[in-house]
Amino acid sequence: MSAKCFLSSPSYLYVVITHFLVFLTLTHTVTAHNASSAAIMSDGLALIAIKSMIKKDPQGVMTSWNDSNANFCQWKGITCSPRHERVTLLDLSSGGLTGRLSPFIGNLSFLRVIRLFNNSFSGEIPGEIGRLFRLQELRLTNNSFSGGIPVAITNCSNLQVLALGYNNLVGKLPDKVGSLSMLNILIVHHNILQGGIPMFIANLTMLQRLSFGNCQLGGPIPDVFHRLTNLSRLAMHGNNLVGNIPPSLYNCSSLEQVFLDNNRLIGRLPANLCSSTILPHLGTLSLSVNRLTGRLPPSVLSSPQLHVLDVAQNNLSGKLVITPRNSCSLVILSLSSNRFGSGEDDEMKFIDHLSICRDLGELHLDYNQLKGFLPESLGNLSTTLYRMILASNLLSGDLPSSVGNLSGLTLLDLSCNQFTGTLPFTIGNLKNMQRLNLTNNSFSGSIPSSLGNLSSMIELYLTSNEFNDTIPLSLGNCKKLLTLNLDQNSLTGNIPRQLFDISSLSISLNLGNNQLSGQIPIEVGNLKNLNEIILTNNRLSGEIPSSLGSCGSLQNLNISNNMFSGSFPASLGSLRALENIDVSHNNFTGGIPTYLEVFHLKKLDISFNDFEGEVSRKGVFSNASLVSILGNNRLCGGVPELHLPKCSSNKNKLSLAVILVICCGLVLVVVATILFFLCHQQKREAKDEPRETFFWEFLMQVSYETLYKSTDGFSSNNFLGEGRFSSVYKGCLDTHGVNIIHVAVKVLNLHRHGGSKSFISECEALRNTRHRNLAKVITCCSGHDFQGNIFKAIVYEFMPNGSLDEWLHNRQYELRQLRLIQRVCIALDVAYALDYLHHHAGKTIVHCDLKPSNILLDEDMVAHVGDFGLSKILQYEYQNRCDSSSVGVRGTIGYAAPGMSC
Ligand SMILES: *[C@@H]1O[C@H](CO)[C@@H](O)[C@H](O)[C@H]1NC(C)=O
Ligand SMILES: *[C@@H]1O[C@H](CO)[C@@H](O)[C@H](O)[C@H]1NC(C)=O
Ligand SMILES: *[C@@H]1O[C@H](CO)[C@@H](O)[C@H](O)[C@H]1NC(C)=O
Ligand SMILES: *[C@@H]1O[C@H](CO)[C@@H](O)[C@H](O)[C@H]1NC(C)=O
Ligand SMILES: *[C@@H]1O[C@H](CO)[C@@H](O)[C@H](O)[C@H]1NC(C)=O
Ligand SMILES: *[C@@H]1O[C@H](CO)[C@@H](O)[C@H](O)[C@H]1NC(C)=O
Ligand SMILES: *[C@@H]1O[C@H](CO)[C@@H](O)[C@H](O)[C@H]1NC(C)=O
Ligand SMILES: *[C@@H]1O[C@H](CO)[C@@H](O)[C@H](O)[C@H]1NC(C)=O
Repeated sequence: MSAKCFLSSPSYLYVVITHFLVFLTLTHTVTAHNASSAAIMSDGLALIAIKSMIKKDPQGVMTSWNDSNANFCQWKGITCSPRHERVTLLDLSSGGLTGRLSPFIGNLSFLRVIRLFNNSFSGEIPGEIGRLFRLQELRLTNNSFSGGIPVAITNCSNLQVLALGYNNLVGKLPDKVGSLSMLNILIVHHNILQGGIPMFIANLTMLQRLSFGNCQLGGPIPDVFHRLTNLSRLAMHGNNLVGNIPPSLYNCSSLEQVFLDNNRLIGRLPANLCSSTILPHLGTLSLSVNRLTGRLPPSVLSSPQLHVLDVAQNNLSGKLVITPRNSCSLVILSLSSNRFGSGEDDEMKFIDHLSICRDLGELHLDYNQLKGFLPESLGNLSTTLYRMILASNLLSGDLPSSVGNLSGLTLLDLSCNQFTGTLPFTIGNLKNMQRLNLTNNSFSGSIPSSLGNLSSMIELYLTSNEFNDTIPLSLGNCKKLLTLNLDQNSLTGNIPRQLFDISSLSISLNLGNNQLSGQIPIEVGNLKNLNEIILTNNRLSGEIPSSLGSCGSLQNLNISNNMFSGSFPASLGSLRALENIDVSHNNFTGGIPTYLEVFHLKKLDISFNDFEGEVSRKGVFSNASLVSILGNNRLCGGVPELHLPKCSSNKNKLSLAVILVICCGLVLVVVATILFFLCHQQKREAKDEPRETFFWEFLMQVSYETLYKSTDGFSSNNFLGEGRFSSVYKGCLDTHGVNIIHVAVKVLNLHRHGGSKSFISECEALRNTRHRNLAKVITCCSGHDFQGNIFKAIVYEFMPNGSLDEWLHNRQYELRQLRLIQRVCIALDVAYALDYLHHHAGKTIVHCDLKPSNILLDEDMVAHVGDFGLSKILQYEYQNRCDSSSVGVRGTIGYAAPGMSC
């Protein structure tokens, strides 16, 4: 049928209702009376509606709620009345259900019991529940119901149990709840209610259990308990309640459990509390964390009924007195954090009378002012005692050896007292001991080796006593230890290697402030999980074993005030978890390890050692407040706040620089030598050539016609370039019919102003010069062209490798690059040429247009300075200054001698 679809889409509810009515009618017609069949159908519909609002049912609690199982009285969690076949009980508790509670629940009019606790119902509690006038039990505890508590449920006048605890209910408890006179259980604890403890509880005379715990109700406790003669459990803890505990409460003799802890209650406890007159049946009294004052009546501690007494964290005081009685039910006795103590030496005598408490499990007497000796009867306490805390009192004397009888102890805390004497050997009998804390006493003598028998021990604190002698090797048998603190004693001898075999150690190993000597055993590397190693203030020596680098969990390392020496092992660079390092007051040498920079340190103290070298400015070293470096006289550098001397301009770096300079110098010399050799070789090769001729002597005569022919009529194919006053053409010249030489013909453009002058000065210059690094002039031509115009040309030896400009700017030799050595040689060639022109040419010739395009390269890449068209020949007297008659900078684009005007 369609129930399934209906379930998954509740919006089609009414469409499907008709189908369902038919279905139900069919299945129930036989058994149901006609009159009630409609009501039965209504129950079925309501249950389907309830299921339809369940979003998650991981345990399949509601799988049986299906149409193949038509009789809903057989569905899981449903109980029907046998006579009417109406639903009387709905129990889906602890079903893991998530969803909302359908208002259709109000149609299950025969319901007496609703148990939906321990689920995840959310949304508001439907007010339709108020229609269930037969309802006796409504348990919705431990869900996520929100909103207010609906007033309508107070219509359920037969309600005996109303349990709404552990939800998100807000607001005030409706006053009409006071009309539910049948209520015997009212639980609203752990909600966010307000408005104080309601007065109406006075009317709930049937109440047995009332719990308003942790509801932030506030206000005083109303003095209304005289009528609650059935009340056995009262819980109003955690409500910021103020004022006194009302007298009527003490008159509520039915009370067995009272929880008023964690409020702000004041006042004194009545004498005879827990006696036959006041709360004689009280088993649990929890008044901790209040502001109660006065004495704890002896009747309380002497009560034979009391199981749990917790008055911790009050201002109670006085002597603890127990009167002898025949029985004791105490399981937990917590008197911590009060001012108990009378100053009398026998005040711990009350322990004698606790030995009758055979179920005693916890005894908390810490943070009081208890004085005197622990009686030998301590050992007569129950072996069920697993926790005994006597810390922070004024107890003195020996720890009775009978303590060894308390074989159930897992925790014994005697810290912060004034115990003296040796620790009884019998303490080794406490086989279940997990936490033994004797910190801050004056125990002396040896640490009993029997402690090694306590193989369950997790934490051992013997800090701040007067133990002397050596550390017992047997402690290495405590293989479950997480913390071992033996600091602040007078222990001597070596650190037993066995301690480092306790690989469980993960919280702390503190052996500081003793007189231990010797070295850190190499086994320290076994402590891979350890957070903290403290060995400060001993007489330990030697180097840090590099195995310490295996303690990868280490956060705190304090080995200060010892006699450790050597340098820091590089292996410690793996201790990335380190946050605090104190190695001060030792004899460490060497540099500060650089790995410290990358640690995320909160504190680094390396003061008073003999570290040397430069202090980093990175990581922890960048913040001077985190670093202590005092008393290391050989340190330098660092951030200014450290006030260290500057590293003396790097003694080492200076010598390094010197070495570098020398090396570079040597390299230069070698390179220069090679260059000289190479260039010189080229020079010699050049010298060997026969064309080294005397310029004017061999000057041949050429005509315009010859030049015209040799350059194919000054064709553009042979055009090489253009100067300011000239054009240059390539040509082939037949010299004396012997051989053909390649020439560059520079044709002067005489139409340009200065062109003629240029020709003259060039010829003049070349007449006076001869040098292998000057462009070689083969001849000059001065005559007429075919048109009769004046024609002047200078014929140079052709330089097959063109000009330097072309090389540098890759115009013609794109794919070729000058090698360094070629560049140097060219520079040298130019220098030679200039040197010659300036000093050795007879007259000083200033080229005035020296630029890459005027430096020509022959086939051997030897440079030749050419184009003297702008050159000046200075008389000797003008040698050191330029011609004042020439204004402006001489030269063509590409050359401008810095600051020099020719
Ligand atoms: C319906 O309920 C019956 C009885 O609990 C069960 O055996 C059956 O598996 C259920 N059917 C479905 C489809 O869940
Ligand atoms: C059942 O309850 C719903 C919601 O409370 C209501 O609208 C409906 O009329 C009721 N149905 C029957 C048959 O009583
Ligand atoms: C509350 O219910 C959850 C299951 O929903 C359960 O695990 C938990 O123990 C319950 N808490 C209490 C206090 O009963
Ligand atoms: C509760 O009872 C009052 C009067 O008795 C009535 O008016 C009201 O409708 C009832 N509420 C519900 C939810 O049934
Ligand atoms: C207690 O009940 C009486 C009568 O039954 C009523 O007059 C009174 O208002 C109720 N008190 C409270 C606090 O609800
Ligand atoms: C306690 O109850 C007794 C009688 O049962 C009564 O005499 C006394 O006044 C009550 N005390 C208080 C504080 O209510
Ligand atoms: C301890 O108990 C034993 C017997 O149970 C008893 O003989 C002894 O006197 C008790 N010791 C003390 C100090 O109370
Ligand atoms: C440090 O070493 C030097 C030389 O090794 C030694 O003289 C000095 O006493 C040592 N200082 C300490 C505190 O151990």
